[in-house]
Amino acid sequence: MLVDKHNRTFPYLRLSITEVCNFSCQYCLPNGYKKTGKEHFLHQDEIRRLVDAFIELGVWKIRLTGGEPTVRKDFTEIAKIISERSEIKTLAFTTNGYKLVERAQEWYDAGLNAINISIDTLNAKKFHDLTGHNKMQAVRDGIDKALEVGFKKVKINVVLLKGINDGELDQYLEYVKDTPVSVRYIELMQTGDNLTYFNKFHQSADHIKGQLVDRNWIENVRNPGDGPAANFTHPNYAGSIGLIAPYSKDFCTGCNRLRITSSGDLRLCLFGNFGIPLRHMLQDDDQKNLLKAAVRKQLDYKASSHFLATGDTGIMTNLSSTGG
Ligand code: 5AD
Ligand code: SF4
Repeated sequence: MLVDKHNRTFPYLRLSITEVCNFSCQYCLPNGYKKTGKEHFLHQDEIRRLVDAFIELGVWKIRLTGGEPTVRKDFTEIAKIISERSEIKTLAFTTNGYKLVERAQEWYDAGLNAINISIDTLNAKKFHDLTGHNKMQAVRDGIDKALEVGFKKVKINVVLLKGINDGELDQYLEYVKDTPVSVRYIELMQTGDNLTYFNKFHQSADHIKGQLVDRNWIENVRNPGDGPAANFTHPNYAGSIGLIAPYSKDFCTGCNRLRITSSGDLRLCLFGNFGIPLRHMLQDDDQKNLLKAAVRKQLDYKASSHFLATGDTGIMTNLSSTGG
């Protein structure tokens, strides 16, 4: 098992497989993804070698992310390669949901068993403005489809935006009344690209917390091994509400994940100041021990927390470049 100097363990790997995204969310890629000409995302063989090494380092949960991971033509193939490995108990992915209605069954059959879908507003017009696509209903239908084909762990990501969706809690509560999904409010994070947007729209998750408490929602006790979300439940509701507050004190204490960028750099922290290239160690099956040793060594450099409070967002320009 990987353990760092702050006694945190890392059973969870977030693997970005592309930077490309077909949406243009205002806080992430307001002008859409622009080709750089340097698109050389990890190939299937490299992904297989990476996964095999991390399995030996104790990883049992992998999330495929991006960009929009499902824009990759071989997305299903990649999922199969990973799910074939019995050590991987949870194979999750994060998607904007644009293809879910058509493909949920295929992806479930490929061994994916947990899914995070972004839906930042339940207002169709606002959704269109925010993402550049008039697809709120299509995404909602996709969520229904995911549940129907058998996904048990379905999470809905909502980036909390002041004046845009911070007044929609009751709509989301109505949604989770009968739908067994976990809605997770994520505080807007400052990135290299979005400072003006951040200053205008950042809203603290405490804003939602207060409203939940007023409505008799109960905060669950945190267990060791839980991720950084605070979870709230209510006996009369099928779903739950989570709050992800990266600016809160102690957010990083529960960190249990490492990230790999789509070009094969290890990122110890979403907001870190450096990436460690691993790709050259993914070229041959014989390099596994080298790769494992390199990852173990790098873990010594994992800082106890990010430096967002001082405005230091690290090298990340937007989440599509590092993997959300
Ligand atoms: N702050 C918070 N969340 C973000 N996401 C993308 N950019 C940001 C940001 N700056 C979210 C997406 C998606 C997940 C992958 O990350 O909305 O839910
Ligand atoms: Fe694409 Fe996700 Fe960024 Fe939106 S937040 S533009 S869906 S990568």
